[in-house]
Amino acid sequence: MSQFDLVVIGSGPGGYVAAIKAAQLGLKVALVEKDNSLGGTCLNVGCIPSKALLHSTEVYQEALHGKKHGLVGAEKLTFDVSAMLANKDKVVAQLNMGVGALLKKRNVEIVRGLGRLVKSGEVLVRSTAGDRTLETKNILIATGSVPIELPFMKFDGETVISSDHGISLKAVPEKMVVVGAGAIGLELGSVWARLGSQVTVVEMLPVIGGPSYDADIAKAAQSAFEKQGIKFELGAKVTGVKKSAGGSALTAERDGKSLEFAADKILVAVGRKANTTGLGAQEAGLKLDERGRIVIDAHFLTNLPGVYAIGDVVAGPMLAHKAEEEGVAVAENLAGKHGHVNYAIIPGVIYTDPEVACVGLSEAEAKAKNIEVAIGKFQLAGNGRAIASDCTAGFVKVIACAKTDKLLGVQMVAKGASEMIAAACAHMEYGGSAEDVARTCFAHPTVSESFKEAAMAVSKSSIHSL
Ligand code: NAI
Repeated sequence: MSQFDLVVIGSGPGGYVAAIKAAQLGLKVALVEKDNSLGGTCLNVGCIPSKALLHSTEVYQEALHGKKHGLVGAEKLTFDVSAMLANKDKVVAQLNMGVGALLKKRNVEIVRGLGRLVKSGEVLVRSTAGDRTLETKNILIATGSVPIELPFMKFDGETVISSDHGISLKAVPEKMVVVGAGAIGLELGSVWARLGSQVTVVEMLPVIGGPSYDADIAKAAQSAFEKQGIKFELGAKVTGVKKSAGGSALTAERDGKSLEFAADKILVAVGRKANTTGLGAQEAGLKLDERGRIVIDAHFLTNLPGVYAIGDVVAGPMLAHKAEEEGVAVAENLAGKHGHVNYAIIPGVIYTDPEVACVGLSEAEAKAKNIEVAIGKFQLAGNGRAIASDCTAGFVKVIACAKTDKLLGVQMVAKGASEMIAAACAHMEYGGSAEDVARTCFAHPTVSESFKEAAMAVSKSSIHSL
């Protein structure tokens, strides 16, 4: 038996950040992790490895098209997939160690094994080393999510693969079909397309990128990806896989017509679902919703006293940074402070080239709420740094309230959008207006000036557009 103030189950960005924050605030904390490496989905099979592969393949593509920048023989450049995978593994290992070091520095005890919620105040950890019971004042469940499997085409790891497999393919598939044009489909589709795979993305909806983006943003992104050779089959509902001696094919249906797409690999990226496997939720009487997510109140408290839950295992966007904010808030609340997450300002990013990013309300969402909006747009083609850096695809869109000029949302398709969106978040966090952005001094030349120009365009005062 051990006594803790807080036992966190799951060491993803939600769990480990909560553990560090709680320890910083003076709590005695244990962190339970079933996998060998710390960091959860994000660090081991999600955000980080995919970003390493996106970077390697972007370097390759930039060099391959380096003739116009004076590179000689660039078009003959080849690549080594195993070296790219090794680099990705090195990045992950470095960060695994980093998370371990941070936890150690804060005296968080890492307990290896599968954590099971016995009841309020008690967690059982099972491992090959034996069982250990942790007694604790509070429990935080941060067990994350797993890829959704389509019932009629289960993952086999060979032809039908999940994102877990999609970051570790040993060779470039000649033909890859991606099911789902969300963040995972677009990012991993980009990785393999950049290495020469013929990628077709099959999406049920008529647009790519999911519901957060306006149609003009989604269209601009789609057209940029099409120029990179990715094909899109929108409005198509997947029906199954056909396997024959000649190869495999994904079957789908659109407007009553049957479609078939030959594929060496079919990457299914149709979303993720809450992971409560092995947690003993039912036995402990933990309340789950109809989608298997743990039900919490406004303070992250479940129906069991002293048991909290955050991140992908509860409702809300499945984003590492959302989980981190929730982890900090829970730790602060337990330490007697007033933790809070501003769910209205959680950015979303798709790390393609160009990147796609958004925060706050889209134009469509604002209109659906009957808010009168004023829109400002700025094309990157008018930005000096974008021209100098050969990245003129895309635009920035500012959605402001027509009456008050307050920023309601910002969306963009742009190289470096993942960094640029941070300025939008900061302005919105302080309740900024489009004029506040327009009057902020941005360094020149930067692609970020496109955000300032889009804010100026709200009042039709953009300097660098006609
Ligand atoms: P997603 O929910 O973002 O996108 C799934 C897409 O698949 C949707 O567009 C949906 O309409 C489509 N779809 C669903 N069923 C289909 C079917 N049967 N046939 C054709 N299309 C179908 O899910 P995704 O991309 O798998 O990502 C999972 C979660 O992980 C998301 O919450 C995402 O936000 C998060 N994530 C975030 C990343 C980021 O922030 N860059 C990167 C990777 C994942």
